[in-house]
Amino acid sequence: MSLPREVIRVPGDWVAVILAAGQGKRMNSGLVKGLHALLGRPMVWHVVRAVREAGVERVILVVGYQEDRMRTALGTDVEYAVQKQQLGTGHALLQTRDRLEGIDGDILVVCGDTPLLDPQDLRDLMAMHRQERAAATILTALPDDPSGFGRVVRSAQGTVQAVVEERDASSAQRAIGEVNTGIYCFRAKDLFPALLRLGADNVQGEYYLTDVLSLLAREDRPLASLACPDPQTVANINDRVQLSHAAAFMQHRRLVQLARSGVTIWSFSSTFVGVDVTVGQDTVLLPMTFLEGECAVGRRCVIGPNVTVKNAVVGDDCQILQSVVEASRVDHGVTIGPFTHIRPGSHLRDGVKVGNFAELKNAFVDVGSKIPHHSYIGDAQLGKGVNIGAGAITVNYDGRKKHNTTIGDAAFIGCNSNLIAPVAVGPGAYVAAGSTVNQEVPPGALAVARSRQVNKPGWAGRHRE
Ligand code: UD1
Ligand code: CA
Repeated sequence: MSLPREVIRVPGDWVAVILAAGQGKRMNSGLVKGLHALLGRPMVWHVVRAVREAGVERVILVVGYQEDRMRTALGTDVEYAVQKQQLGTGHALLQTRDRLEGIDGDILVVCGDTPLLDPQDLRDLMAMHRQERAAATILTALPDDPSGFGRVVRSAQGTVQAVVEERDASSAQRAIGEVNTGIYCFRAKDLFPALLRLGADNVQGEYYLTDVLSLLAREDRPLASLACPDPQTVANINDRVQLSHAAAFMQHRRLVQLARSGVTIWSFSSTFVGVDVTVGQDTVLLPMTFLEGECAVGRRCVIGPNVTVKNAVVGDDCQILQSVVEASRVDHGVTIGPFTHIRPGSHLRDGVKVGNFAELKNAFVDVGSKIPHHSYIGDAQLGKGVNIGAGAITVNYDGRKKHNTTIGDAAFIGCNSNLIAPVAVGPGAYVAAGSTVNQEVPPGALAVARSRQVNKPGWAGRHRE
């Protein structure tokens, strides 16, 4: 599907182009590089976010390899340009020509494999570009190890002359410590004529975007540059070792933020907190805690060790130990675990206690109810102050359909009972231990649904003989 050809004039305005059409061969993956995740979100998503946080509204993503998967993952929040064959970064940017050639503004270009970007650096770069009235402005960096990056070649006067890829560089050029971050601003009017003149006379036989800089320099167009203060933020991900390092860096940065906001984290290296997670003051995250997806965890909770909470809301003063909570809501002062699985659609109200060893699914559990040991409660509504004895379960599935169980306030379900749904136990009722209940239990009644015990005096002695 091609987007409509349009020429948009946005004087004084910015458009961002993110280059993400490449396969990422060095990832050795069946998945396009841009969709490999950090903190639960695709690499490219982080780049889009940084650009938006820098204040650029209009974002064009250049896609190609696994274009459909990219569109599905990023949605309609961005525009797409398609690079059918991946012939290099210059060729990739050229694919935006039909939409951007006529604009009377500037283009921020960012590589889609640079997810650690600090939006402030992008803002500074754009400000410098405008201030210098430059045809192009490049963000450079001085990393500890420049290998893999293109090197920035400057004239005796210090102006940028060219960027030389490592593979094409002489040994003298390789000794240069200043590198190209792959982030630039271009005046649209100057960019497209230069892109059209690019050749592919280099080791990789590709149309390098970086050659635009030497073309413009040779024509004495004004070029500017800005050095990025923290080279770690412009790390680009070409293989999975770099992915792992970048994910750890991003995670560390997020955990530092949380710690500064009042969350205790025992182990930075074994705590995972996704980008769409909030954690309240004085909550303690113990090792091997994973807070994934969209989560909000309240104040003064103790979470972990060995806990996964995914797409869930957890209130204040909760304790979750060695357990999994998914797509559910947990109110205040709730205790979960150890070894408990709260499956999607559940809602535990204030003061509820679940576990050891319990599984809940699509269960509403009202204030103060307890499911303390070895239970399965699925498709059920429990009132207030209910007590579920050890091993009691709701039998919600008849092999074809799921059915509901309702248990009234203050009801008491004896150990090892089966409640065969659909069924209701009235408020204040008792179910005797070991019962298999398949009829409604009226409020306040005792249901005994098991065979009566028979004792045979002296039987054991005779049996042994
Ligand atoms: C590029 C720069 C290098 C810089 C480094 C910083 C060039 C020639 N080199 O190298 O100077 O130091 O980034 O991160 O620009 N892409 C396309 N279409 C293509 C080729 C690439 O969209 O045909 C996209 C990729 O998906 C990727 C980005 O462009 O997101 C950069 O490509 P990559 O191959 O990673 O470039 P580097 O070798 O890292
Ligand atoms: Ca790269």
